Amino acid sequence: MVLTVANQKGGVGKTTFLVNFANYLHEKQNKSVCIIDTDTQGNSSYSLSYAAILGDTYSLFKNNILSDKILNIEKDKIYLYKSTIELSDEGEFDDNSFYNDNIKYLSNIFDYILIDTAPVLSNKLINSLQISDFVITPIELEIYSLQGLELMLNTIFNIKKTYNQNMSFLGVLPSRVNTTNTRHLMTLNHLKEEYGQDLFLPYIKNRNHIAEALTEQVSFFKTKSRYKKELLIIFDFIYNKMQEK
Ligand SMILES: Nc1ncnc2c1ncn2[C@@H]1O[C@H](COP(=O)(O)OP(=O)(O)OP(=O)(O)O)[C@@H](O)[C@H]1O
Ligand SMILES: [Mg+2]
Repeated sequence: MVLTVANQKGGVGKTTFLVNFANYLHEKQNKSVCIIDTDTQGNSSYSLSYAAILGDTYSLFKNNILSDKILNIEKDKIYLYKSTIELSDEGEFDDNSFYNDNIKYLSNIFDYILIDTAPVLSNKLINSLQISDFVITPIELEIYSLQGLELMLNTIFNIKKTYNQNMSFLGVLPSRVNTTNTRHLMTLNHLKEEYGQDLFLPYIKNRNHIAEALTEQVSFFKTKSRYKKELLIIFDFIYNKMQEK
């Protein structure tokens, strides 16, 4: 299964969701997981310092990895293709046939492939959407974050219609929600009226412990945070939604 985390708006919680959900799949559901970091910022590569590195993402676009000697996956490890600076030259990613084949190959080896994407509507993002079984869109409930939402959803649903009818859009995932902030709650209600309740996943609250775990390069589920249960319930919901497919 391939899951892409997509929103061309920056700072909305894509990487935070991806890293936590990867740990959840691995630790709580006992699944084999490979993360592909397509963002030159390399945030997920940084936070997943404990992952086993299989290579860099650039090589997935440029070579056929089928001939590499892969892969005895060890159950206790989480795997990563890391970001490098070569990913920044957008002109290099017009033909992504290697990428398609490589991701297909990896998805036969791993239970889950999780793709982290940069905050830009790039060829790498479009291509990742074209080969995904699932897509999820984190948002922040602030006006600047919402202005691009329509464009993102249009892009996702156009790709689904044109290239990838197999794709399931899991939903919009409000992240960093401050429930004492009436603006956040009003914005969420307004969005649900506009787009329909069903498009939205349960929201993730703003929790410092979550940001801390990623900064400290440890799995949030291995910390002592009292908010673990809260995130687990949301991830169980998303996981179950994926099983319905
Ligand atoms: N639930 C949360 N609680 C507290 N802080 C959060 C939460 N989710 C994300 N953050 C913080 O918000 C910031 C942006 O999150 P993140 O890096 O995940 O966004 P992003 O969409 O991946 O950004 P970019 O588009 O730049 O890659 C980070 O500093 C992160 O620690
Ligand atoms: Mg990110």
